Amino acid sequence: MDKKWWQKEVIYQIYPKSFKDTNGDGIGDLNGIREKLPYLHDLGITMIWICPMFPTPMADNGYDIADYRGVEPLFGTMADIDALIAEAKALDIKIILDLVVNHSSDEHPWFKEAIANPTSKYRDYYIFKKPVDGQPPNNWRSIFGGSVWEIAEGEQLGEYYFHTFHKKQPDLNWENPAVRQEVADLVNFWFERGVEGFRIDAIVFIKKDFSLTFAPDGPDGLADVNLGGANMPGMIEFLAELKERTFAAYDKVSIAEAAGVPYEKLDEYIGRERGVFDMMFDFKTTEFDLQTEGIWTSYYDWDVKDYKAMMYNSQVEVGKHGWATTFISNHDQPRAASKYLRANARNPYAVKALATTYFFVKGTPFVYQGQELGMVNFKWDDIYKYDDISTIDQYERALLLEVDEDNAIELVNRRSRDNTRTPMPWDDSENAGFTTGTPWLPLTETYDEINVKAQEGVGDSVFSYYKEMIALRQHSDYSDTLIYGDFEPLPSSDDVFVYKRVAESNTIIVIANWSEEIQVETIPELGDIADIAAGKVVLSNYAEAEGALAVAGNQVTLRPFEAAVIAL
Ligand code: NOJ
Repeated sequence: MDKKWWQKEVIYQIYPKSFKDTNGDGIGDLNGIREKLPYLHDLGITMIWICPMFPTPMADNGYDIADYRGVEPLFGTMADIDALIAEAKALDIKIILDLVVNHSSDEHPWFKEAIANPTSKYRDYYIFKKPVDGQPPNNWRSIFGGSVWEIAEGEQLGEYYFHTFHKKQPDLNWENPAVRQEVADLVNFWFERGVEGFRIDAIVFIKKDFSLTFAPDGPDGLADVNLGGANMPGMIEFLAELKERTFAAYDKVSIAEAAGVPYEKLDEYIGRERGVFDMMFDFKTTEFDLQTEGIWTSYYDWDVKDYKAMMYNSQVEVGKHGWATTFISNHDQPRAASKYLRANARNPYAVKALATTYFFVKGTPFVYQGQELGMVNFKWDDIYKYDDISTIDQYERALLLEVDEDNAIELVNRRSRDNTRTPMPWDDSENAGFTTGTPWLPLTETYDEINVKAQEGVGDSVFSYYKEMIALRQHSDYSDTLIYGDFEPLPSSDDVFVYKRVAESNTIIVIANWSEEIQVETIPELGDIADIAAGKVVLSNYAEAEGALAVAGNQVTLRPFEAAVIAL
């Protein structure tokens, strides 16, 4: 495969509302990102993905856009984003934005005009349908709960509009060529301003098949919108057209949020020849703890080997077709340490073992803000503390399923999207150095211990370990193998990950023990590595003073949560 510039990036995801506030309003802003560029540069990341920072009524924290070519005043100005792009560039850091074009806000002028003036061309920018027997046109359930159909305030024709997500997020009508042109134009608008690509939101929902009908699948009498509204035939053609008009024309990167794609179809999405995106997120590796996709009441007691099987399978299957993303968290997930390590979330060896495991598989790695500190979930006992619409919906769904209130809170605590949306802890002062005002969302209680100040420049901190991992991937004799080398899983005990990365220049073995037990692994590839002291272990999560990795012949004895990268 030809090497592509975006394969060697390390991408840091910023949720702007929660990163750094510079004007004391309790809400993060673009100037806060500017202020922290040296921090990110020091960490070693090469690209920043900024979650939506466009004008928005914030029904879904910016994933409801009211103007695709502006900056939300709470976040700053166009001059601020221009300065951010330029200052990042001076540090060799690229900026990508979030493309949210399955839907707009209901406060977007297009939607307002579609309602106020139903004969205007903007009516056809959205999906309107007449009631059927006085009822909504079908029984599909929106992602955030309730029907996908809504009658807008001021609606003159008595028609419903369609929303896959919240009612304040009406879906754009991609069947309309004028909408598709608007999208291409706004993408190119940002490319012309120096943006290097987009993460593309909820893109699998842009095509619907309204001829399909489904039986209700829950006590609300509704059926999942995914059944008739996601990954539908014809969607790829729209995206191929978009790619040609924008990303391909400018050589910019496209990273799709594309859930529910069967592996055998990956060719159409990210295939080397005909894929419409450069990369996509495979959520099978993050939703593995739920039995029913997206439903937080459906946890099961998974084992490390279950996750390992899914993660390896994802690597192998995605690798057959194209290039992967590797990630363990984002703004829709709980904190990685809490989710993957459970009772060991606060054990720094475990946090580093988790980091080693995901960071060195094949693909472009993503680090979500605070992950580099080993941040953990909060413990909130009252639903009124939460901001996220999805959390509130999941809580209500749990009550409908007759889960009692305490249990319902516990369930949402584990998975709430707010877990990753609490303010970034910069230090242990009153508001964690995030704001001089009142933070828009409470801090995670552990901020007095888990914060940047406590870890920056501290040799054995989680932050320092992320720095080392990034430097090893980006700037070492092993970079070529760690970026482009093939991935091959190797046999190991249930709680241990052993895989190799193979390139012409060298072979790398990555080992991580995800248990408190000592584990002995036989790794034939090691041969007789008697000269282990001679620099073959190129990364370890145990300090030198604690002793080197125990290797005898091809047998490795791993201490609790020990992880290492070995260059053969
Ligand atoms: C996926 C985004 O990641 C999520 O935060 C948002 O709520 C939905 N798409 C709707 O835009």
